[in-house]
Amino acid sequence: MTVVRLALAGVGNVGQSFLELLRDKGDLVRDRYGLDLRLILAADRSGAAVDPAGLDPAGLLVLKHTGHGVATGQGGRPGATAAEALTAVEADVLLEATLTDLHTGQPGLDLMCIAFEHGMHVVSANKGPLVLAYRELTGRAAQAGRQLRFSGAVCAGLPTINIGRRDLVAAQIDRVEGIFNSTTNYILESMSANAAYETALAEAQRMGVAEADPSLDVQGWDTANKLVIIANSVLNYPARLDEVEVTGMTLVTPGALQAAQAGGRKIKLLATALRRPDGSYRLRVAPTPLPIDHFLAQTSGWEMGIVYYTDIYGVLSAKVDERGPLPTGSAMLRDVIDIYQG
Ligand SMILES: NC(=O)c1ccc[n+]([C@@H]2O[C@H](COP(=O)([O-])OP(=O)(O)OC[C@H]3O[C@@H](n4cnc5c(N)ncnc54)[C@H](OP(=O)(O)O)[C@@H]3O)[C@@H](O)[C@H]2O)c1
Repeated sequence: MTVVRLALAGVGNVGQSFLELLRDKGDLVRDRYGLDLRLILAADRSGAAVDPAGLDPAGLLVLKHTGHGVATGQGGRPGATAAEALTAVEADVLLEATLTDLHTGQPGLDLMCIAFEHGMHVVSANKGPLVLAYRELTGRAAQAGRQLRFSGAVCAGLPTINIGRRDLVAAQIDRVEGIFNSTTNYILESMSANAAYETALAEAQRMGVAEADPSLDVQGWDTANKLVIIANSVLNYPARLDEVEVTGMTLVTPGALQAAQAGGRKIKLLATALRRPDGSYRLRVAPTPLPIDHFLAQTSGWEMGIVYYTDIYGVLSAKVDERGPLPTGSAMLRDVIDIYQG
């Protein structure tokens, strides 16, 4: 049995899903993989909770569900920053699930650097540090002889990154197409059924699909972020966010969607990476009419999908129907187990 000491930064939707998995799948992980996953640090904006003998995931969930911070319970350290707490513990893996900040990457970026400095592996759901500093982070991981995993950062449970990095060995990837944002996919589908944009957005917010501030989604930037992570990590192309040609979906009208449908097409907010002859990629996010029989035209409002066009594996397509943050927590668990199953 290998004891794996975990430090969780961010105990929101994703962090809490991970705690549920620790509570519900701990025995299975022990029996099937020989791993004793022990949470020794959790941090949110209230401070930190630390216990080298192991924090109780169920107890932390009760705290969060009743509106309390983790620092108010077992091993609580009110006011301690995540960075201070992480520096002081001996953990094996940092689980990064704080909010995505696309200007600074913080607090996730500093936490990841601290983790590598202290010999930890990093599993991240957070896109910000990966979009802004992918090369720096992979360099630090290599220098530390540790792993950086982020299979949940791009489309959560859908293994976009794993398929590209693990399964397309030795391939030349000529094109990637993806629907990486279920909020916009849901809104476009509702508008195809004649709902106005504002009504479709309000409905998506009511159902908890869309954020209160959905601007990153509808203006295409969430999709662009994910495309940049795929470009860096799968295509081995050092893309920056500012080179992605981004057009959001706010100007698409129900009339345009219906006209496309009458012509045998569906308009989707599509991410595309197209290989140029020199090996670089043109990166684009835009509302795009797809033939009705295209794999991605058939993704319903809740779904996200990806298609890899390769020279030696043919065309590989995958999609997921995902309704909530649990698959992102599951992807983090998958990464932890993968690190130790090697
Ligand atoms: N939700 C999804 O389905 C999904 C899918 C894929 C990737 N992601 C990514 O996963 C990450 C987490 O998403 P989420 O939906 O769980 O977000 P969330 O519900 O807003 O949770 C964010 C968490 O980060 C904590 N936090 C914020 N600033 C902090 C700081 N300076 N120090 C310590 N903790 C801090 C918050 O603390 P408080 O609890 O005290 O506010 C909260 O617990 C994001 O980067 C997101 O982009 C999410």
